[in-house]
Amino acid sequence: MSDDANVRAGGHGGSGKAPDESAGRGPVPPFLPHRLCVAPMMDWTDRHCRFFLRQISPQAFLYSEMITTGALLHGDLERHLGFDDAEHPVAAQLGGSEPEALAACARLVAGYGYDEVNLNIGCPSERVQKGAFGACLMAEPGLVADCVRAMCEAVALPITVKHRLGIDRIEDYGLVCDFVARVAAAGCRTFIVHARNAMLKGLSPKENRTLPPLRQRREDIRELTRFYLEQAANELGVAPKTLSSEAAEVLQKYDWPGNVRELVNVCRRLTVTAAGREIAVQDLPHELGGVTTQPSADWTMGLAQWAEAQLAATAAQPLLSDALPAFERTLIVTALRRARGKRLEAAKLLGWGRNTLTRKIKELGLEGRV
Ligand SMILES: Cc1cc2nc3c(=O)[nH]c(=O)nc-3n(C[C@H](O)[C@H](O)[C@H](O)COP(=O)(O)O)c2cc1C
Repeated sequence: MSDDANVRAGGHGGSGKAPDESAGRGPVPPFLPHRLCVAPMMDWTDRHCRFFLRQISPQAFLYSEMITTGALLHGDLERHLGFDDAEHPVAAQLGGSEPEALAACARLVAGYGYDEVNLNIGCPSERVQKGAFGACLMAEPGLVADCVRAMCEAVALPITVKHRLGIDRIEDYGLVCDFVARVAAAGCRTFIVHARNAMLKGLSPKENRTLPPLRQRREDIRELTRFYLEQAANELGVAPKTLSSEAAEVLQKYDWPGNVRELVNVCRRLTVTAAGREIAVQDLPHELGGVTTQPSADWTMGLAQWAEAQLAATAAQPLLSDALPAFERTLIVTALRRARGKRLEAAKLLGWGRNTLTRKIKELGLEGRV
């Protein structure tokens, strides 16, 4: 069941009358179809699941799985839209970003007798991003407004939108405010808020659902950092770094908008850029509350710091004999993670052939670790 906030901006749900306060036992609220909804869930809320759920609740508003415009316009209509009368009130959720295609699909949904058309502006999957719909449309309120307007003009059914609070690290209230204002002006009266940011970069939809922001577990940050620093060192084949207690304090205070994945990335980065074995506040990037002033994009500054520290150390190895393998390991591990372990894809990301990548993995002792 969904715990989404259900933001109603007027609309088709309630009677619109004030609650009756004359009955002695307090106000009797009007029946609001969206008070209890079952969220749209891919691979779950098909017609059979919805029929079953209707036996449990006679009134809950039921949502279909997301159906893409392509699937509806070119696929098996009955399979996607067929449903039992017992399922009312029921909405069909669409995924798409082309006004004309969405209008055509809204007509099909209306023809089948659904009670509402819902547009998905929340799905973070890579496949959906490639199709340029789902959560990435939070950044394109004008296009979403065009889609909603086209659907409102095509059918008499209520057109609703399920959206996110933000995308990636954008937590600015202005983003969601502007989005809702522009889409409401196009005719949407009910917004269903999936009250999380969608992390579009680096997280699968499953991770998007299951990993909470790290700031909700501040007490774990020290221990997690120790663990991920060790893991990063292991991946890169170098000695693990430790955090000075001042640096640990700074990391604990940082606001961590992302989840544990953000910390994993920080640990990998610090393993490469921190000058000594112990990570000091000076090594922490500015955006994390540290005092390093260079923008994070300029990684060569960190490299220069590292080189200076190496040269200052007695019995330092020639710089390139340490730095080159670490450089290659870092890029290989990052590309493989990005490609979810697929070597051909990772090789392309690196600009190598697959054979070169395989050889490098062996040479650098990464076999079995990546
Ligand atoms: C298995 C699964 C599939 C989902 N599929 C969809 C979907 O097709 N469309 C959609 O808008 N949301 C989908 N969601 C998100 C849910 O509708 C809902 O917003 C979310 O689970 C709320 O929980 P949360 O706040 O813990 O993220 C899915 C969620 C799960 C768990």
